[in-house]
Parts: sequence; C-alpha cells; structure tokens
Amino acid sequence: MSEQRNTHPKSLPEGSVSTRPHKEGGTSTRPFPPRGLGDGGGDRVVLKVDNLRIHYATPQGDVIAVSDISFNLYEGETLGLVGESGCGKSTTAYGILQLVQPPGYIVHGSIQVDGTEVLNLEEEELRKFRWTGLSLIPQGAMNSLNPTMRVKDQIIDVIESHEGKQKDKDALRERIFELFQNVGLPNRIYNMYPHELSGGMKQRVCIAMGVALHPTVVIADEATSALDVVVQRIVAQTLVKVKDEIGVSLIVIGHDMGLLAQIVDRIAVMYAGKMVEIAPVENVYANPLHPYTQLLIDSIPSIKERKPLKITEGITHDPRNPPSGCIFRLRCPFAWEHCAEVEPPPIYVEDLHEVACHLYDEQFEERRTNAHALIANS
Ligand SMILES: Nc1ncnc2c1ncn2[C@@H]1O[C@H](COP(=O)(O)OP(=O)(O)O)[C@@H](O)[C@H]1O
Ligand code: SF4
Ligand SMILES: [Mg+2]
Repeated sequence: MSEQRNTHPKSLPEGSVSTRPHKEGGTSTRPFPPRGLGDGGGDRVVLKVDNLRIHYATPQGDVIAVSDISFNLYEGETLGLVGESGCGKSTTAYGILQLVQPPGYIVHGSIQVDGTEVLNLEEEELRKFRWTGLSLIPQGAMNSLNPTMRVKDQIIDVIESHEGKQKDKDALRERIFELFQNVGLPNRIYNMYPHELSGGMKQRVCIAMGVALHPTVVIADEATSALDVVVQRIVAQTLVKVKDEIGVSLIVIGHDMGLLAQIVDRIAVMYAGKMVEIAPVENVYANPLHPYTQLLIDSIPSIKERKPLKITEGITHDPRNPPSGCIFRLRCPFAWEHCAEVEPPPIYVEDLHEVACHLYDEQFEERRTNAHALIANS
C-alpha cells in the first residue's frame, strides 16, 4: 500500500491515475496489510481470480450472476466482499469453491489457489481440496448443522472425511478442544446437540469446522447476518482472531459496511455481477471513488448526523439483459453518453486501489472535478 494514500474525501491523489496492470504477487510471507512498504506488490498472492464469469440458465435466457471479475487475495489478508442482495456475492463464493449448482455454470475464468488451478481439478482432487485448500462457511450455515448429530461428531466427520479414521481418540478430542479454544467455545459443548447451543455458539461451531483442516483460504458468506447485532460483532472478531492464529486468508461476504470496516483489510464492491471498486478499507471509507461505493458509504446510518437516506431501490436492470457500457449507468447521477458506449476498464488509482469508472480516466478530469464538487455540496 502506498504511503501517499490520499485521505481527502472525494478527491484523487494528484497525478496518480494510471491504467498500468496490477502487480503480481511475489514470494514474501510478510503479514498483510503491507502498510508503508511502497506498493504492497511483494506480498504473496494465495488466491487469484481471473475473468470469472458465472451464469444461471433460465427459460428466459441466462442470468449473468458474475460478470468477468478479477481480484487477488494476499496471504494473511481479510478481504470484504460487499454489494446489495443479488449482486453475485454468493455465486462468486460458490464459483471459487466449484460448488455452483445447475442451472448455474461457469462460463469462463481461472481460479488459482497457491498456484493450483481449481478449475482443472478432478472431482476427487476437488473433494480433498475443499476444507484443506479452500473452505466455505456458507450463508445460513448454523441452521444447516445436523440436528441429530452431536457437535463433536460433526467436527470429527470433517476431519475423518479427509484424513481417514483417527485411531488415537484422545488426540482427536484434544484437537477438537484446541479448535474450541480458537473460536471461543467451552469444552462442555463437545457432547451437545446443536439445539442446545445459542446462535452465536452454533456459528462458532461452523467457524471451527471451516478452519479445522487449516485451509489456505476461508470464505465466510454472511456468516454473522442471522445473529443479533452485538453477537454479530463478537463472532466477526472471533473470525479474524482465528484467521490470525491459524494463519489462513479470509474473504468475508457481508452487507454491513460498519461491521466490515472493523475487521477487513480491503473491500471489494460488487454491483450487478461486476466488481466496481477494490481498495484498502481506509480508502473506501475516507475516499470512496465509484459513485456506487459513494452511495453505499452515504447510506451507513449515523446517530450523530441524521441525514436522509440516498440509497435508491436495488439493481434496476434485468440481469439477463444488462445495459451497454457501464453496469451502473442507469442509477448513476454522473452518467453521460460515453458511459453507454464503453465499458469502464479497471483504473489503478493507487497501489491496491482500483476503480471501474470513466470519471477516473485522465481525459475526463473536468467531469471528475465537477462530479466531486457536486458531491461536496450535497
Ligand atoms: N438458481 C438460480 N437460478 C436463477 N438465478 C439465480 C439462481 N441463484 C441465483 N440467481 C441469481 O444470480 C444473481 C446473484 O445471486 P447471488 O449470488 O445469490 O447474490 P448475493 O449473494 O449477492 O445476494 C441474482 O440475480 C440471483 O437472482
Ligand atoms: S462510468 Fe459513468 S455511469 Fe459508470 S459509474 Fe462512472 S460516471 Fe457513472
Ligand atoms: Mg448471498
């Protein structure tokens, strides 16, 4: 991450807009985020998603759920994936894990975990890879715990399905206790059934299962949404603590921007299947660049400052038939003809900060200045 990070709201670092390609990860094992290290480009990439496209076939035509997205996840990083309901967050997660169910299918793309191309793995290799290379804590996971199985047996199932029958039962119990400790669960729940646990405890069991085999990457899809607000925050903190202790990299999918601000290093913003901005968390809050990100940030409720909500209703176009040019143009207050004609490419405004919006193209500087003046006065 660059030292020159701009913190002036709604303005760009002078002369820093470029369209050069993102640096690839190197081999360093420095912890994320690489603050003050110049460009962050020396950090190891553990997950590399390239040009991923996923459709759902329907009788009326294909729904474009994920539309050619690319991003890197760095070792030790927590990346937040946000965007309103239906923008393709869960489908992205399923795509990365090769769990997209028909009528969904991957049209094209590349997904590399530690250099392994997930899309080339055979079914048996994939089965092994899930939980060990990649693991998912799915949306509503705590409600899908088997009600007829004790907690210990559900965790043992995960371990034994990958490592075979464990002969040393004492060692296995100790290993589960250690997992309990990682996620803040008391040992007494070992023999309990899910219905005997609170929501927060059930969610911790799901986290324990997700990290049991020390995967390289864990994806938590709205892992805390079903919990009440205070418990949400405590469980989210647990997720990050476990991530640090076990040394995994984490993608947290959510829509609570306030909660994400507290736990993630970078935020990727999705709109209607496209990734429109990806940036270090401080930049997203202090200096959101994409008009949709600005809308999201403006919609965070503030007790101190009561302001009318600017958010309009959700995605306005038919996902089978997206508009030409920019995906956001039907809702964008700054759209002009060019936005309908040309799809905005990702523009690298600073290291680790990309935005897909024509306003950040140098040739439209005047429009950008006017747009930002409008925002500042609103
Ligand atoms: N089984 C399905 N059939 C058709 N469309 C689907 C199916 N599942 C999801 N979709 C569509 O794919 C898009 C992305 O959905 P999803 O990934 O669940 O979004 P999110 O997790 O961001 O709420 C939405 O437009 C949704 O309606
Ligand atoms: S490219 Fe145009 S329509 Fe799209 S977000 Fe930027 S200004 Fe708005
Ligand atoms: Mg979802």
